[in-house]
Amino acid sequence: MSQLSSAGFEPRVFSGVQPTGNLHLGNYLGAIKKFVALQERQACLFCVVDLHSITAQLVHEDLVGQTRQIAAAFIASGIDPKKNIVFNQSRVPGHAELAWVFNCVARVGWMNRMTQFKEKAGKDRENASLGLLAYPSLMAADILLYRATHVPVGDDQKQHLELTRDIAAKFNNDFAARIEALGLGVPMGAQGGGADGETGFFPITEPLIEGPATRVMSLKDGAKKMSKSDPSDLSRINLTDDAETIARKIRKAKTDPQDLPSDVAGLAGRPEAENLVGIFAALAGRDKAGVLSEFGGRQFSAFKPILAELAVETLAPITGEMRRIMDDPAEIDRTLSEGGARARDLADVTMRDVRDIVGFLSD
Ligand code: AMP
Ligand code: TRP
Repeated sequence: MSQLSSAGFEPRVFSGVQPTGNLHLGNYLGAIKKFVALQERQACLFCVVDLHSITAQLVHEDLVGQTRQIAAAFIASGIDPKKNIVFNQSRVPGHAELAWVFNCVARVGWMNRMTQFKEKAGKDRENASLGLLAYPSLMAADILLYRATHVPVGDDQKQHLELTRDIAAKFNNDFAARIEALGLGVPMGAQGGGADGETGFFPITEPLIEGPATRVMSLKDGAKKMSKSDPSDLSRINLTDDAETIARKIRKAKTDPQDLPSDVAGLAGRPEAENLVGIFAALAGRDKAGVLSEFGGRQFSAFKPILAELAVETLAPITGEMRRIMDDPAEIDRTLSEGGARARDLADVTMRDVRDIVGFLSD
């Protein structure tokens, strides 16, 4: 596979998943499956973002267990924690420290425009935690603490990644003179969107949002995203579901009365059909056009059992492996601790420079 291009910066991949329970097929296809593919290109950082998980809900019944579960899902899906850095965010103090600097770089207006904040805060915005408002600033810190150049995520994170780019650009610009004086500038190239010869300290991160399942929808409502927080368990396939449950949920998935179309254009205005075809394509490693050329003209009653079989075949080894890994929490803790130590080494280098750039007196 080819190298990721990243101007003067060393190519580096970072992504995070919140330890908030009910890891589902959307998380797997939109994010984790892509992580597994990316590790073939280069070493990556995969983080369980526990600091983020207290923004919407402060007290969790079993945050430790949820954290271990996400780490287990990473490893069970095929992420190699020796080759990559797998860790939980709170182990590396640089995330919170850099987020504070970014809170002072970013503007309140930028945060107020975030659709995820509006959705999560709901009507009572005054009563949302300050952490929920500042959430994207911490996310930018997660990424830029390692000067990561590429971030694989689902479509719902696009706006947050645009904000990460804005924060990096504003930091580079606000501190341009000091970055230059300290000799810490890296050529931005075309990636930074800047003129030839322009340098910066943080890269302008590229989102990696591609493929047929960047936005997996609820099995009960094609207009709603598949989500951890949906009250209906039938709306999602959990990574902890057994084969029978997976098959039943697909059987009960909402569809329309028409047959499957034979091309992608025929999916327009048919969100449930589009969703199931997208899920099939992503599970099979194909595109939607390929799936429709095989199943166009067939009824959902014929398509669903084949989809269910494919889903079970793909997920059963992962869920089985996840259960096995969860049986040995001490081993997960060791993995996260080792990953944390390696992440801290990288983070310390960035933070030393950031303190110098901002002008904090330090050792
Ligand atoms: P979260 O569980 O919110 O931390 O999300 C973890 C990752 O899964 C992020 O990259 C999300 O963009 C991705 N993701 C979450 N829900 C979906 C979905 N329904 N379809 C595709 N990707 C998703
Ligand atoms: N906000 C992301 C989500 O809910 C999780 C996340 C936190 C993240 N920090 C990140 C994803 C950094 C990618 C990179 O899905």
